[in-house]
Amino acid sequence: MSAITLEACITPSRSAVKPLAATKGSKPKRQLKGDPDLPDYVAPEPKTNMDRREWDRMSSRMEGFHSYFRLAFKQLFELSDGSFEKRGLSVRDFMGVAEDFHEHLGFHHGIEERHIFPVLAKRMPQFAVEHQEEHNAIHEGMDKLQALIAKYRADPSSYSPDEFRANLASWGPTLFYHLNEEVESLKPDVLRRYWTLDEVRKLPM
Ligand SMILES: [Fe+2]
Ligand SMILES: [Fe+2]
Repeated sequence: MSAITLEACITPSRSAVKPLAATKGSKPKRQLKGDPDLPDYVAPEPKTNMDRREWDRMSSRMEGFHSYFRLAFKQLFELSDGSFEKRGLSVRDFMGVAEDFHEHLGFHHGIEERHIFPVLAKRMPQFAVEHQEEHNAIHEGMDKLQALIAKYRADPSSYSPDEFRANLASWGPTLFYHLNEEVESLKPDVLRRYWTLDEVRKLPM
């Protein structure tokens, strides 16, 4: 029985995240707080339900994706003690479940980094720096998960619940932190400090 608890894997924490400056060898271009480049602007409060829905669109769509990832991660943890066998899954089948999760999360981050972050980062430093740093830390953990999946596929008898859960515990807290904070950064009250309603309508999501 593994000693690693679900709690240890999903309690949000940013402590494993390395600053972008350290990973890229250069300083982030924008300050996080009191950035003189930011327009001194707050868009007016939405007046109609239609406007409100428009302002809510980014955070509520993102939350839809993220609630799936939270569930899938927890399911992976729960099955990983070997109880996948009780569900009729072999080690290789379970690696298929892990691979699906890995692929969906990687795809989601890929879309964000190619199509969403670059647009938002023009005005929102949290998408140029903090959320990118979180992605980088999550990807390190995902790369190690991928290596474990390959190892257990090649030799199912090497499957170790402890080793698998240690991997989840190494990046799960960062993932859960990021899944919350990215949505927070897209909430209407935050967006209103950077964009007009017309601009928000055109933001990709
Ligand atoms: Fe996301
Ligand atoms: Fe993300």
